[in-house]
Amino acid sequence: MRHKKSDYMHWSKTQSRARFNLATSGVAPFPLRELPVNLKQLEINGANDYGYAPLQQAIAKHHSVDSECVVESLGTSMANHLAMAAIIEPGDEILIEHPAYGPILDVAHYLQADVERFRRAEENGWAIDLAEVRRCVTPKTRLIVITNLHNPTSVLTPESVLREIGDIARSVGALVLVDEVYLDAVYENTPRTSFHLGPEFVVTSSLTKVYGASGLRCGWILAQPDLAWKLRRLNDLYSATPVHPGELLSVAAFQHLSLLRERARQIVEADRKLLGDFLKQQSVISGVETKWGTTSFVRLRTGNVDDFLERLRTDFDTSAVPGRFFEMPDHFRIGMGVNTEMFAEGLKRIGRALAS
Ligand SMILES: Cc1ncc(COP(=O)(O)O)c(C=O)c1O
Repeated sequence: MRHKKSDYMHWSKTQSRARFNLATSGVAPFPLRELPVNLKQLEINGANDYGYAPLQQAIAKHHSVDSECVVESLGTSMANHLAMAAIIEPGDEILIEHPAYGPILDVAHYLQADVERFRRAEENGWAIDLAEVRRCVTPKTRLIVITNLHNPTSVLTPESVLREIGDIARSVGALVLVDEVYLDAVYENTPRTSFHLGPEFVVTSSLTKVYGASGLRCGWILAQPDLAWKLRRLNDLYSATPVHPGELLSVAAFQHLSLLRERARQIVEADRKLLGDFLKQQSVISGVETKWGTTSFVRLRTGNVDDFLERLRTDFDTSAVPGRFFEMPDHFRIGMGVNTEMFAEGLKRIGRALAS
C-alpha cells in the first residue's frame, strides 16, 4: 500500500491544542484589521491562470529573482509536494535530513521514492555535516532535501555549507530542495535565498510561519524557468487556479511585509529570552540554543517524553510537540512567537511538571 497520510499533521490538527499551547511552529496570526488594505478592492475572480502577475512580481522582488522563476502554490506544504513530485520518479533516491519535518518524508514516501537519510547530530549543534552528506549521496540520488532554518531545531545553515551541498548534488546530477519557510525569522542580516547559489537549488517558502498569514496560503517555489513550467503544469492536476481573494490580500501583505514581520519579531525575541533563562535552570531537559527561529528542540534526559507530554497536557493544560514526529522520541519541540504571557506560563508549567 502506498503511504497516504501524515501522522504529524493529524496530531497537530486534532491533539496539539492546549490553553498553554507551545506546540506551535509559526508566529501569532496577523489580524486582517491591522493590514492596511481597502477591502472594497477585493475581487473574487481575476487573471491568474498560471499565477497572478502582481503577486508573482511581489514574490520575485522579495527574493530578487526573475518572476519567471516564481511558481505560486498553496502554502509551503503544496510547494514541497509539487517540487518533489516534479523532480522525483518512483524508485528515485531522495536524501533527506534527519531529523526532518514529517510531511516532507510523508510526501517522499507517497511519491514512492527510495528515501535515504543523512544525520544532523545534536552533539554537532544539529549542523549539517558535509562529510555525512558526501557519505550518503550516491549516483542514484536525484534530490537532497533540507530545511533552513531547520525544523525542529531552528539551526541556520550558512551559505558556505549550502554551496558545498550544491556542489555535492551537481557531482551526481541531483538537485537541492531547500525549504526556507522559517528563513525570514533571521531578523538581522537575513540571508538571501539559496536559490541564488546555483541552478541546482529549488526553494520553497510562504507567508505562513514568520508572517502570521497562514490563512492566505500564499506559498511559492523558486525554480529555474523550465522546471518552473513543469511545476505549473503539474499543479494543473491538483488545484487548477489559485484563490484570487487570497492572492489580492497576499499582494497587500507583501506591500506591508515589514509590518507583519516586526509585529511577530517582538514576541519571538521575548519568548527566546524566556526560554534561554528557563533552560539554564533545568537539569532534566537541555537544548541547543539558537539565535533565531520559532522553535526549539529539547531533550528529556530521563523518563519517557510521550508520558511526560501527556501528563503536561492533562494536568497542566500545556502542549508541546512529541519528538517522535521527528523520529527523535527523547526530544520534544517548543514553539515561540505567539503570545509571551502564554509562553511564560507554559514554561512555568513545564517546570512544574518536570519537578512533580
Ligand atoms: C519545514 C516546514 N515546511 C513547510 C511547512 C508547512 O508550511 P505552510 O503552512 O506554508 O504550508 C511547515 C509547517 O510547520 C514546516 O515546518
